[in-house]
Amino acid sequence: MTEQMKAAWYTRTGSAAETLETGTLPKPSPQPGEVLVRIHASGVNPSDAKKRSGARGAMQFEQIVPHSDGAGIIEAIGKGVAPGRLSERVWLWNAQWNRPLGTAAEYIAIPESQAVPLPDNLAFEDGACLGIPAMTAYIALDINHDPALDLLEHLRGQTVLVTGANGAVAHYAIGFAKSAGAKVITTATNPDTADAAKQMGADLLLEHADVDPDRFTKRVAEFTGGKGVGRIVTSELGSILAITPDILAPASTIAAYGSEKTPAPTLPFYPLMFKNASLESIFVYEIADEIRARAIRGIAHHLVKGGIPALIDGIFPLDEIAAAHERVESGSKRGMVLVTP
Ligand SMILES: NC(=O)c1ccc[n+]([C@@H]2O[C@H](COP(=O)([O-])OP(=O)(O)OC[C@H]3O[C@@H](n4cnc5c(N)ncnc54)[C@H](OP(=O)(O)O)[C@@H]3O)[C@@H](O)[C@H]2O)c1
Repeated sequence: MTEQMKAAWYTRTGSAAETLETGTLPKPSPQPGEVLVRIHASGVNPSDAKKRSGARGAMQFEQIVPHSDGAGIIEAIGKGVAPGRLSERVWLWNAQWNRPLGTAAEYIAIPESQAVPLPDNLAFEDGACLGIPAMTAYIALDINHDPALDLLEHLRGQTVLVTGANGAVAHYAIGFAKSAGAKVITTATNPDTADAAKQMGADLLLEHADVDPDRFTKRVAEFTGGKGVGRIVTSELGSILAITPDILAPASTIAAYGSEKTPAPTLPFYPLMFKNASLESIFVYEIADEIRARAIRGIAHHLVKGGIPALIDGIFPLDEIAAAHERVESGSKRGMVLVTP
């Protein structure tokens, strides 16, 4: 009889409660070039919930085991994989991107390049936050800079604005920027609640820019001595775009990985052009191989150097995966939501 494993899945799009099922599925076996990972923690990102809800289009496969992020231990290897990888602790990326079987299960078989060694000082819960949040944060800080500078050295002495301090991605952006020697301005609905950002050394905490744009611009000018910030990292481009020409230093970068509240913002082109500003959009699932490779290397470097703990909002057993998705969709989570198979 085929060996079975615990798993969660959906076969149609819709609300979490209506679509997510749990039970058993056949345990996968690693194909050539793959590793079999016993999952210890599975990360639930907004994109997992959006795909399940139907917001990203129709079902790509008849049955989907959700979640792209996860961490665990390699228990078996396919042909061509070095035997030394057996028993390795790993974190995963793109585990459910263009593939039906993600990390919301006891096991996953995945190409070995998508299973990255997890530094010894990190728990599996940390590892399950790296594939999307940490990778997106790193790329947003790294993209479009002098390629001669590595490991975010270009940020030393710069001021970086990271919007949404309590966000899963922003949390790592603040941590990496501080570890790289930057000053960090960050924002929250209620700055008094951004404890993790304070602990990581964020230098200035403000309300989101769209609450009072004039006041925000003034505070940034005061903090930077009129120079402006060298980089903006944001998941809400539309909430900040109008004032970016006023708060950016010349020849600086806006790195945007979302614009959820204003999906089609108006671009103040000439004011940005007069600043030689660059606007970079980031889609972490489809990023170029060399950019991803730099991020994987840089994440390990800064997680070890900077001692950046994961910001975990909640951990749910696999049987309660629907509640985990609802928490992600609530709009009030702080950091990452995890599921343990
Ligand atoms: N393009 C990509 O590759 C990529 C990768 C990862 C994530 N994303 C997307 O990025 C978004 C954030 O992901 P996440 O996991 O970090 O989500 P999250 O943990 O839910 O964080 C969302 C953040 O947005 C902040 N926010 C709310 N209103 C804002 C405003 N007016 N201005 C600035 N920030 C505001 C929230 O701050 P308060 O809680 O303080 O209000 C919160 O910190 C999601 O839409 C996700 O799908 C895209």
